[in-house]
Amino acid sequence: LAQVRDQWTTRAGFILVAMGSAIGLGNIWRYPYTVYDNGGGAFLIPYFVALLTAGIPLLLLEYSLGHRYKGSAPLSYRRLSQKWEWLGWWQAFMAFFIVTYYIVIIGWALSYAYFSVGTQWGDDTNAFFFGNYLGVSDSFWNFGGLQWKVLFPVLLIWAFVYFVMRKQAHKGIERLNRILLPALIVMLVIITIRGVTLEGASDGLNVLLTPDFSALLNPDVWVAAYGQVFFSLSVGFATMITYASYLAKDTDLSNSGLIAGLSNAGFEFLAALGVFGALGYLALATGNDIQEVVSSGVGLAFVVFPQIINAFPGLNDVFGLLFFGSLTFAGLTSAVSLLEPGVSAIRDKFNIERTKAVNLVCGIAAVISILYTTGGGIRFLDVADNFLNSYGLLFGALAMITAVAWNTKQLENMQSHINNVSDVYIGAWWKICVKYVTPIMLLVMLVQNLMQKFMLEYEGYPMLGNLTIGWGIFFTTLLLGIIASRMQWKSNTEQLDMYRQKEGA
Ligand code: PHE
Repeated sequence: LAQVRDQWTTRAGFILVAMGSAIGLGNIWRYPYTVYDNGGGAFLIPYFVALLTAGIPLLLLEYSLGHRYKGSAPLSYRRLSQKWEWLGWWQAFMAFFIVTYYIVIIGWALSYAYFSVGTQWGDDTNAFFFGNYLGVSDSFWNFGGLQWKVLFPVLLIWAFVYFVMRKQAHKGIERLNRILLPALIVMLVIITIRGVTLEGASDGLNVLLTPDFSALLNPDVWVAAYGQVFFSLSVGFATMITYASYLAKDTDLSNSGLIAGLSNAGFEFLAALGVFGALGYLALATGNDIQEVVSSGVGLAFVVFPQIINAFPGLNDVFGLLFFGSLTFAGLTSAVSLLEPGVSAIRDKFNIERTKAVNLVCGIAAVISILYTTGGGIRFLDVADNFLNSYGLLFGALAMITAVAWNTKQLENMQSHINNVSDVYIGAWWKICVKYVTPIMLLVMLVQNLMQKFMLEYEGYPMLGNLTIGWGIFFTTLLLGIIASRMQWKSNTEQLDMYRQKEGA
């Protein structure tokens, strides 16, 4: 293609950005309550099964796609076979829609880092979050006006992210990760140590670590485990295809994938230990049952954590700053990885400057994210998140497997590609997982999920809300993907086809 492809400075730089993408809001905010909702310790077994049979194998598949075909997701899929280009666009569009609300949650975290100073949320943290801060409206379709307290930090985050994205990836994104990731890791370790050494922590840890084996028979627990593993590893939204396309020719893939995948799981677990230790402390301090102090996702970080910080035996502000600061840092390094697939795809196809592509992608995404800063925002966010992360993610992953393993039959070649460049040999287990185990599990989960959510209302939101926002985003991203794939390539298509012939596809 006409433009020289960007490249990470070193292999360590790549591992860093891959880890930075994986370690995100999913680890600190989503994992602990997902574990709790799904039987505590019993969740660990499905989680590790999902991690080893689906998460890491698909992560390696995305690495190999991006590295072998040296392109953004649409270009890589096109080089695999012209008829799959739409899939790359679809995944990039889903990443784009996710980042529109992902940034908003980072905005909340930034606000709360500020509120930590002097514990400004007061005693009733629930009323503060939903009332004072979010100004939640009374019904689904009531937008309730803009919340300036939310919009302002969100715009700050956008300005910062835009500034990072404008630079070449190895300068902007890589440098961001080099600074924030080490800081984040230190902060998480401090939080965990403090969390597990609090009085009453062992009660919280018991809830996390006591297995409930009956949960293993519950298909929902498995669905949750797969969803968590994919989201947390950043699999299924074209991120890793894009990142791997910026790697030098003979860089190790399998070892890097194992490092990124396992360290992400490690940090997830670490964060959960810290959070549950602190929950045990809160239960003790308030004389409540642990069951009563744990609440669902949004609440855990923005309602329960402020309570914990209120009850802290000293240095309350510092602990608050650490917790919400780490949430902000973790979010930022993932948000850029959700924007890059779109930026890279547009540049490849329309042959335009990076700054132009960034203006377009960040500009439109920032406008859409304003929707989530209204009084109805948290409900829209919840529905969008749920539909993209269940159907979009799972259908996308299934399509990816179909494309590579079944339709173009390139799995064997992908395996040799990985093994040619890597330290760690990838054996037949990989092909079995990608070709059979994962798609079967995905199909079962999709049927499960569809029956549950299509028939029932999600979270008691009006059916029309689910249809328009939930399914609306699903089909809009799909449609946009198909349209984009039909547009004319402004870069050298001859080279695209030559490449395919050379690869014998
Ligand atoms: N892995 C990120 C997290 O845990 C989210 C993410 C998903 C980022 C997909 C990029 C792609 O929060």
